[in-house]
Amino acid sequence: MSDFIPEGKIAEIKERASILEVIGDFVSLKKAGKNYLGLCPFHSERTPSFTVNEEKGIFHCFGCGAGGNLFNFLMRANNLGFPEAVQELAKRYRITLPSRELSEAEKARRSMQGRLFEINEVAAEYYHRLLISQKDGEEGRKYLAERGISEEVIKDHRLGFAPSSWDSLAIFLKNKGVPLNLAENLGLIIPRKEGRNQGEKPNFYDRFRQRVIFPIINLGGKVCGFGGRIIGEATINGNQAPPKYMNSPESPIYNKGHNLYGLNAALSAIREHGYVVIVEGYMDLLSLTQEGIRNVAASLGTALTTAQVSLLGRYTKEAVLVFDADEGGQKATQRSLEIFFKEGISVRVASLPAGSDPDSFIRREKRAGFEQVLANALPLVEYLLEQALRRHLIRTVEGKVRAVRELLPALNRLKDPLEQNLYIERVASRLGLKETQIRGQLRGKSSPLTEAQKTSPGPPKGPAHERLLLQLMLLNNHVIPLVEEVVGKDGFTDPSHRKLAREIMNFQEARGKMDVQEFLSHVGDEESKDLTSELLLTGESVMDPDRMLRDCLKKVKLSRVRQEIQHVDEEIRQRSRQGQEGPLSAPGVKELLKRKQRLLVEQKKWIDDSAG
Ligand code: UTP
Ligand code: MN
Repeated sequence: MSDFIPEGKIAEIKERASILEVIGDFVSLKKAGKNYLGLCPFHSERTPSFTVNEEKGIFHCFGCGAGGNLFNFLMRANNLGFPEAVQELAKRYRITLPSRELSEAEKARRSMQGRLFEINEVAAEYYHRLLISQKDGEEGRKYLAERGISEEVIKDHRLGFAPSSWDSLAIFLKNKGVPLNLAENLGLIIPRKEGRNQGEKPNFYDRFRQRVIFPIINLGGKVCGFGGRIIGEATINGNQAPPKYMNSPESPIYNKGHNLYGLNAALSAIREHGYVVIVEGYMDLLSLTQEGIRNVAASLGTALTTAQVSLLGRYTKEAVLVFDADEGGQKATQRSLEIFFKEGISVRVASLPAGSDPDSFIRREKRAGFEQVLANALPLVEYLLEQALRRHLIRTVEGKVRAVRELLPALNRLKDPLEQNLYIERVASRLGLKETQIRGQLRGKSSPLTEAQKTSPGPPKGPAHERLLLQLMLLNNHVIPLVEEVVGKDGFTDPSHRKLAREIMNFQEARGKMDVQEFLSHVGDEESKDLTSELLLTGESVMDPDRMLRDCLKKVKLSRVRQEIQHVDEEIRQRSRQGQEGPLSAPGVKELLKRKQRLLVEQKKWIDDSAG
């Protein structure tokens, strides 16, 4: 999206906007040396560790680690995407963004997308007409009526019906003059295998046949794809039974992991209630809507993706998951939790009685019953605790260990110390453990996490020379290829350092040069962004960067040589034991000793070199 806003405009915004002014709206800042300090808006603290450096244009919280540039701040604070953050700043500083300054390629791509949406619209209308008013739609009407779906819901969600004939949509589209290759791109029709062309028949057959059709509407209100449920039991015609549900394949306008069924229609209800209910299936969503529960979106049977959750995050910070009571549903819940954490959405989990899905449950228990289920939804930690209690034999030591392991990530994530303490108490008592036994396992093995501990900077992680190298890479363009050559893309030993180094190298490769502000605006990985701002704020100004670089690279080489010597020593030790007539007779030992000699010479060379 950022490519719609010309780089020149972004530069102009950076020029005009004041990071102190903008952050000042959220945090009251006090000058402290070169920096400004305040209470972090991203975690709760009583002593300020949130730091802003006006000259460098960055912020960093030494308590929770959040950091970045002005755009990153607004994105995090207001939960915006990059383009929206740019727009907000442009508005504030009265910089007009060109509404359309698109490249030819972009224009072509957009007009292609526009045509694809139109074709989906034609198809959606075709299916919908068939269902609501035509004779061929009878079977669909009957099926939905049996499942208790009202006409109102059918109209609101533009449900449709695809008849069993092999090519009715293909013929319809052809008669409408729709280019069939585009309809094929959308997965609406599928080309017949070569050699089966017979005279008049079109060369395509319909993907969806004998199915109720659910158009998937994107946040712009347009039909981006379809789902179809087979009517009746899957007919076995000699071959495989067709799948119960079929969905549009990926296309230039449909990306499965980026959409949620029903979200567009649910937005106003989500705002009104302040939370979203997430279910798995099309029918689950429709039944809930019909009973008047409208703040619902459906994940469509797969584990929720980061893209889907961050989409939700734009509209709400609270979600209730109502997945099927089966094993699959529970697994899906477990998997999605991490993603919610990352998006800062707090989740509760509602459980349905065994054998029920939201659709069957609400049809039996009505709205009141379902609202009770929502009200009983458990906060995450409690849900995990219940699960752990059910799945593990917590009377045994092993069971207790497993249960604690499962709960630790969630306990660690609790930002509020009071909340964390209360949960530790509860978990301990339910598992029959002492609180200290659980605290001992928490992050960094610290005893109760106190406010002071949480916000004190703590020693920086990883080897110092690697940090210094990263600082040099961020600030000096020409350093990057040198480091890449000597250290390699994956040569940093600390995993966070390795990741950031890679990001920097890739960025420079793609853009031709390093620019910290741009890097911060574009780096996708949160941890790398946070580390960048930290390195920039803690890095002392380097007097002689080239010399510093040489020293650091030497340290890298030296530490590699040392490591190799250790390996060789170990190898020698092991092999020597096998020697029949003294250690030297063991196979390969002599060669290893020669190698060690060479390494020692190299080590000495590096040491002398560093000294001189
Ligand atoms: P379920 O199997 O739980 O079906 O799949 P359901 O929603 O209860 O459907 P009904 O009540 O039998 O009609 C949940 C969701 O998983 C996806 C669909 O999105 C479905 O709504 N799914 C399921 C598929 O994509 N393909 C399938 O073959 C089955
Ligand atoms: Mn169902």
